[in-house]
Amino acid sequence: MARANAAADTLELRLTPAGEPSSWLFHVKDRAVSLAIGPREVITFDREGRPYAAYFDGRNYRRGLDGRVLEKAGQTGAPGRVRHRRVLEPREADVWIERVLGRVGQLAAAATHADPGAVPPGRLAFWVGHLTRWTAASLADHARRFGSVYRSVSILPPDQYLALVVQTTEGCPWNRCTFCDLYRDRPYRLKSAAELGAHLDAILDFLGEAVRLRRSVFLGDANMLASPQRGLLAAMEQIRARLAHVAGPPAHFYGFTDVVGVGRRDPHDLVALRQSGVRRLYLGLETGDDVLRRLLGKQGDVQAAVETVRILHRAGLAVGVVALLGVGGQTLAPGHEAGTAAALQAMELKGDDIVYWSPLIEHDSYREQAAACGWLAMTPEQMAAQRRRLEASLRFESPPLLSLYDLRDFIY
Ligand SMILES: C[S@@+](CC[C@H](N)C(=O)[O-])C[C@H]1O[C@@H](n2cnc3c(N)ncnc32)[C@H](O)[C@@H]1O
Repeated sequence: MARANAAADTLELRLTPAGEPSSWLFHVKDRAVSLAIGPREVITFDREGRPYAAYFDGRNYRRGLDGRVLEKAGQTGAPGRVRHRRVLEPREADVWIERVLGRVGQLAAAATHADPGAVPPGRLAFWVGHLTRWTAASLADHARRFGSVYRSVSILPPDQYLALVVQTTEGCPWNRCTFCDLYRDRPYRLKSAAELGAHLDAILDFLGEAVRLRRSVFLGDANMLASPQRGLLAAMEQIRARLAHVAGPPAHFYGFTDVVGVGRRDPHDLVALRQSGVRRLYLGLETGDDVLRRLLGKQGDVQAAVETVRILHRAGLAVGVVALLGVGGQTLAPGHEAGTAAALQAMELKGDDIVYWSPLIEHDSYREQAAACGWLAMTPEQMAAQRRRLEASLRFESPPLLSLYDLRDFIY
């Protein structure tokens, strides 16, 4: 069975490598290339031929642009289930790459015997060549370039995992929350138009055709609305113009904000951002308990967070609101849950909004605070139960998505 679509440059072909019990499906799609070896093994490559994901024997793998490989297994969507995930040790990641390259070798051997009537041999050879040109060493060399293109991409909301990150700014202008160490390694700074241009060139050169995997543009890092309006609009225009020359993502923009910057902005400016392609902004409520929120070092109070969401809605923008699970431990759980449910309810969230539950990952500064305050930590199971209680207490007319946001699930 074969279907070739020259216009869209896609290809679908079944091949049976020597010694294999059944055929493999080799599929070149608009965004990616996949090799389905059977129900328990699938490998996905970007359009440059670099492996970026796999499913092996019940486990999912994502290879980040920096070469790290994240392994995940177990429940995904089930509310509050604890799942397995870990970043492979470098030695294990090498074994993972060897397994992928072994499969590519078998594919290449099988392709030499493919029925020439099924698919133009030149096109099959082109795509197989695209995969076989990568070795463990050249993949590692490519991954090493990541650090010269990006400051590390610390976190994205899960619906944006496949966004094209453009760091119009670096770092977090606040950077004082006790529980967060995501941007401690860099001072906050705004890039000039020239720096942004060089950054865009570097990203597109680094990704090549892999840019087709990207579905939106996420403006990094921690607070896109910390940028003045004129500069932000100009940056979005610069990105839009640059992406117009590549088969990349549509210029729909997403980014983090905070709960003090939105209220200070002219409402017309927010409308102008929507008109320029901004679709959804993400902010950390963290907790609806004002006392706890202040102790965590967050800016603004819970009412400001509620008002921020209403202002964004009035401008026609969707929101993603992140609430922590387990913060304040078992000790403060009753107040955290009551306040968070009340705040989320008051935000009048709707269909295109998202509530994200982020299980607390404890770092030193939070751990010291919790010890000093006598907060008794929650286990992962207790956090999962907290999520279930929170979800059960919420009522929406047109429900937003309620989903997990786990820092450990993310790799860019
Ligand atoms: C970039 S911040 C969101 C930003 C935003 N500038 C604000 O002021 O709300 C990303 C989010 O990751 C989550 N996060 C950060 N550190 C975390 C940790 N140690 N454990 C769990 N979630 C964390 C928080 O919910 C935080 O709001």
